[in-house]
Order: sequence, then structure tokens, then C-alpha cells
Amino acid sequence: MQKPRNLKEALRGKLSKGELWHLRTSFDSVGNIAVIEVPPELERKEKLIGEALLKINPQFETVCKIFGAHKGEFRIQPIKVIAGKKRKLATYRESGCTFKVDLGKVFFSPRLSHERLRISKQIKKGEVVGAFFAGVGPFPIIFAKNSPLEKAIAIELNPNAFKQLRENIVLNKVQGKVEAVLGDVKKVVPRRFKGAFDRVVMPLPKGGESFLREAIISIKPEGGTIHFYQFVPVEEPYASTIKLIKDEAKKAGRKARIVFKRKVRSYSPATIQIVVDFFVK
Ligand SMILES: C[S@@+](CC[C@H](N)C(=O)[O-])C[C@H]1O[C@@H](n2cnc3c(N)ncnc32)[C@H](O)[C@@H]1O
Repeated sequence: MQKPRNLKEALRGKLSKGELWHLRTSFDSVGNIAVIEVPPELERKEKLIGEALLKINPQFETVCKIFGAHKGEFRIQPIKVIAGKKRKLATYRESGCTFKVDLGKVFFSPRLSHERLRISKQIKKGEVVGAFFAGVGPFPIIFAKNSPLEKAIAIELNPNAFKQLRENIVLNKVQGKVEAVLGDVKKVVPRRFKGAFDRVVMPLPKGGESFLREAIISIKPEGGTIHFYQFVPVEEPYASTIKLIKDEAKKAGRKARIVFKRKVRSYSPATIQIVVDFFVK
């Protein structure tokens, strides 16, 4: 018999026609772990689905299912192992870097890989970069390996993510280039990083707007660029975000000029994720 080419083919004969209709065939891969959504109609068949996925994708050791949206200020997504090795520690590679990611304890998404390289290409020699909401370090570590920056300051609130951020800095041998700071951007930035950065990246699309002030005041007096992510309605994606940026800059006694904007990805039928790059003077 021919080897099945995809999940649907692998499960034909094992799931009913109705069940196959409910099956989600797309999944995220985080290194050796696949993360899939299983709709409630297929809950009783989740082990079967996980095992089929492992069979057609032998590069995975574990299949996890998502059982809820990203939660709380640490943005952790509840997941559960449904097949393969019973562990959630992924080893993930991106742009010449390696990351250890404990998927049960920290936020991680491979979906912004394009953004990390896009920004890396803009970083000039000697820049000091503020990597807010750093998680386990994909933005600052990829910047350090793929740009001529002087230093990245990686700020993260979740102690588990901070611990892994420090481990990933060592794993990628960027100790001299990336400094990890445990704490709340709201407190750490005004205290230690006022006027310190040439560039700031803000990958917190839900709620990031309440940290715009901290990003703006952290930019050097001679100016610098902020990369700001947001979830916005499909039908009116940019106007309110741009207004917010201009208002916050004004309140801080600075000026903001929009230099780039684009849709990063679809989030739900009514919502997209965008990035807006702006120069603060
Ligand atoms: C959406 S995740 C992005 C993580 C990482 N940059 C990535 O792309 O994988 C947001 C991260 O910000 C952290 N965070 C949330 N509020 C914070 C705050 N006030 N100060 C510092 N970090 C914060 C969360 O713990 C989480 O790790």
C-alpha cells in the first residue's frame, strides 16, 4: 500500500466521513514538536490523530494539542501531549540559531520568523536595541547573530521564560551581545533605559499599546525606530494604531513618523496582525 501523503489520507478508514470533515490538517511545528488543534467533535480520537501525524512526519517526536487561547500576561497557551514522547521541551532552529522552548511554561510562536529577519537586515553597526517582551529570546538572539548590533537588552517578565532566555543566550554564544533583564517593561525602562536605544521591538500584539510610552521614552534623543505589533480589525487596520502612536509621541514631547506598515498574518476571520515601524525624534 502507498504511504499516505497527508493527515486526511492517513486517517481515511479510521475516522468516519463526518469526522474527517471536522479534522484540522494544519499544525505548527516547533522543532521536534507538532502543535495541532483538535475540534471537540474529535476529542475521543485525538490519540489516533496524533499518532497518524507522527507516522507521516517522522521528524516529530511529540504531538501536542492546543486546548485554549493564549492566557494571562505571560501569554501561555495551554497544551497537552496526545502522542509520542511525553515531554513539551522543544528544540527549535531559526536563522542559524537554536532555541530550547518549554511549550507548557512560556509563549513561543514560529510565525514571526520573517519579521525577525526583516528587522535584522535594518540594524546598523553599533546599534543598541531594546527587545521588549523577549520571551525565550528569538528576536534579540536572531538580531545578534544576523546583524552588526552592539547590544540587545532583552526584557521579560515570566521567570520561566527568563531562565530559558538566559540558557538560549549561552546556547547561541551571544553572551557579549544580549543582556537578559527580568522584570516589567513598565518599571524597568523608566528606571534603567531612558534614552538608551536606537531601536525597539514590541512583539506583544495584545496589549502592547499600553507600553508605547515606555518604548518612546527609551529611544535616544537623536532618534530611533520602533517596531510595533497589534491585532486590528480587517476592515480598518491602520488608522487607529497610527493615531495612537502619534498621540503617545506627542504626550512624551516627541514626534513620530510612520516609515513602514504591513499585514503580518491573519489571526481570525475578523482580525489581522499588523506591524507598524515608526521613527521617533
Ligand atoms: C507574545 S509573547 C512574545 C515572546 C517572544 N518575543 C516571541 O516572539 O516568542 C509576549 C511576552 O511578553 C512577556 N511580557 C508580558 N508583559 C510583560 C511586561 N510588562 N514586561 C515584560 N515582559 C512582559 C510575556 O511573558 C511573554 O513572554
